Amino acid sequence: MAAAVGADVLTRTAGPAPTAVAPEPLAGAGTVPFHGEHQSGIATAPQAHTTLVGLDLHAATDRDALRRMMRLLSDDAARLTQGAAALADSEPELALIPANLTVTFGFGPELVRRALAGPAAGPAAGPVSAPTWLRALPPFTVDRLEDAWSGGDLLLQIAADDPMTVAHAQRMLLKDVRSFAAVRWTQRGFRRAHGSEAAGTTMRNLFGQVDGTVNPVPGTPDFDDLVWVRDGWLAGGTSLVLRRIRMDLDKWDRLDRSGREQAVGRNLSNGAPLTGTAEHDEPDFGATTAVGFPVIAEFSHLRRARSPHTGERIYRRGYNYDDAPAGAEVSSSGLLFISYQADVDAQFVPLQRRLDELDLLNEWTTPVGSAVFAIPPGCPEGGYVGRRSWTEPGSAGRRPP
Ligand code: HEM
Repeated sequence: MAAAVGADVLTRTAGPAPTAVAPEPLAGAGTVPFHGEHQSGIATAPQAHTTLVGLDLHAATDRDALRRMMRLLSDDAARLTQGAAALADSEPELALIPANLTVTFGFGPELVRRALAGPAAGPAAGPVSAPTWLRALPPFTVDRLEDAWSGGDLLLQIAADDPMTVAHAQRMLLKDVRSFAAVRWTQRGFRRAHGSEAAGTTMRNLFGQVDGTVNPVPGTPDFDDLVWVRDGWLAGGTSLVLRRIRMDLDKWDRLDRSGREQAVGRNLSNGAPLTGTAEHDEPDFGATTAVGFPVIAEFSHLRRARSPHTGERIYRRGYNYDDAPAGAEVSSSGLLFISYQADVDAQFVPLQRRLDELDLLNEWTTPVGSAVFAIPPGCPEGGYVGRRSWTEPGSAGRRPP
């Protein structure tokens, strides 16, 4: 077996993937379908671990090369997410526990520019263009962005309930992508270990807050309206905003519990609004204290993050990060804030502007990285992600078949 796998790696033949004996499946070794109308990893229940990789395309990676790249990567993802080894998988045994693995591909502005450059699709195809929101976000006063965590032409969002699975999928994908693009940044995130709390429990961030309570619910018409793009080649896709937000845990430690709760407008024990008792109680913004101050302060994150316009909502699916501290620091931690929305300019930007103007949480949080990607729709079996971005005559600009 080892010799056969080795030979396959050397020649990279298109033959069958290496086989390995599957272990007895255990609860938790689940699979998430790769093919479908939407890419997985968005409406999928958040897995415990994620790695996001941002890549820069090589200068020589043109439209045809992009097509080859996405065929290859989609094939790898289709196999790995189903618990099968990738073609020429050098460690096929590591592919056998998919642990709800999802691989989601995102396209940055430069990738879309190169993909769309080419012969016109003809009048029947309709106009094909990059969405206007596919560009760096406008600057915000709270930003202290570092190039090392920002931008990127191609995004790989790899997530699973097992970190071994994520590491293996990451390596397989990066081995195949390296002739087309180079890694710009890698960001690892985590939530509580799979199985350590009841499914559906809202995550906690490293400030100890329940984070993610008010969020559109996947599978509902509300979610579909807010998240999926309706028209054009991105129909069935969405956008991803990644903000790497540093959280100053030492400064947060100096704040008492009541101050911490007022900063958000929710209590720490179960995430209930300060005017309620259960996590999902509706906040009462009119309630006042005995001396007439609002119970949920004007400066609280809860009040500021809630827009009066229902269309200005997003789907949040963030992860914690905790990197090696530098120098005298005790921690280098924060949030990989990840949101999906059909239109970045109409949904994310006004929300971030409100928080930029006023939000007490800004005292302890600093955005240090920022990137925006178009997430193409999913693909059918035998297809590949992003196919509709290549202006194939007669297919561009239309709704998916
Ligand atoms: C490190 C930075 C951040 C932390 C620690 C944080 C934490 C929280 C917490 C604890 C809640 C209350 C529970 C919930 O509904 O999830 C919340 C709500 C929310 N946050 Fe954040 N957040 C951060 C950054 C952001 C950013 C950058 C945005 C968007 C630009 C955002 C948008 C929201 C929204 C939309 C809500 C729900 C508001 C509502 O109740 O309608 N947050 N956040």
